[in-house]
Amino acid sequence: MKKTIFSTLLAATLGIGASVNAAEIKKLPQPDLSQATPSLMELLNTRQSTRIYDKEKKIDDQTLSEILWSAYGMNKNGKRTIATARNEQNMKVFVLQEDGIWFYNANENQLEKISDENAIGYTAEQQKYVLDAPLHLIFTSSDSHWGHDHAGSAYQNVYLYATAKGLATVIRGLIDVNALHKALKLNDNEFVIVHQTVGYAKDTDSEK
Ligand SMILES: Cc1cc2nc3c(=O)[nH]c(=O)nc-3n(C[C@H](O)[C@H](O)[C@H](O)COP(=O)(O)O)c2cc1C
Repeated sequence: MKKTIFSTLLAATLGIGASVNAAEIKKLPQPDLSQATPSLMELLNTRQSTRIYDKEKKIDDQTLSEILWSAYGMNKNGKRTIATARNEQNMKVFVLQEDGIWFYNANENQLEKISDENAIGYTAEQQKYVLDAPLHLIFTSSDSHWGHDHAGSAYQNVYLYATAKGLATVIRGLIDVNALHKALKLNDNEFVIVHQTVGYAKDTDSEK
């Protein structure tokens, strides 16, 4: 669902979302918080990184919503799904797609397009398997002290959700952070931390 440019500009004026001028908004379905999952101990026992993706199998919007909510959504206590130092909540989560770069606005449960650029290539120069994964998350921060901790909490949540849903994922640091910084239109005090691919496994993971 797309809102008008007017509502987008209004949101930007009110300070909702990224410090960018979103040109397009995609409302996400509400995450289903009542679904049955394996026990936490079982998820921890089976979590792993996967690097061979089935490029024909895409992630639907419901699953995308739940992945993003797991990473950094708002929970019923009005808190994030992860703890943040001093409750600063200054991490940002972006989704890279072929049609552009999207900012995850958790308060509005929506994606806000910040660029038409296909930036996926900036994550894949050193590991081409990445190009087969249908979903690419980028975690950024302006907190040089705690930002990495926040990203770690978020990507572990995604690992657990992915394991529960039979999805494949891997967290990755081998990315072009400078190119991504520019593509994501980050401010000088912000930086790219890590990239996480999510999709469906094609075969047994063999790369370690
Ligand atoms: C901070 C961090 C950066 C990583 N960067 C990469 C990466 O660039 N490429 C990759 O294929 N795996 C990357 N990994 C995944 C690790 O290689 C993986 O977690 C490790 O081999 C253990 O495997 P497991 O996750 O299945 O337990 C990274 C993991 C972490 C925590």
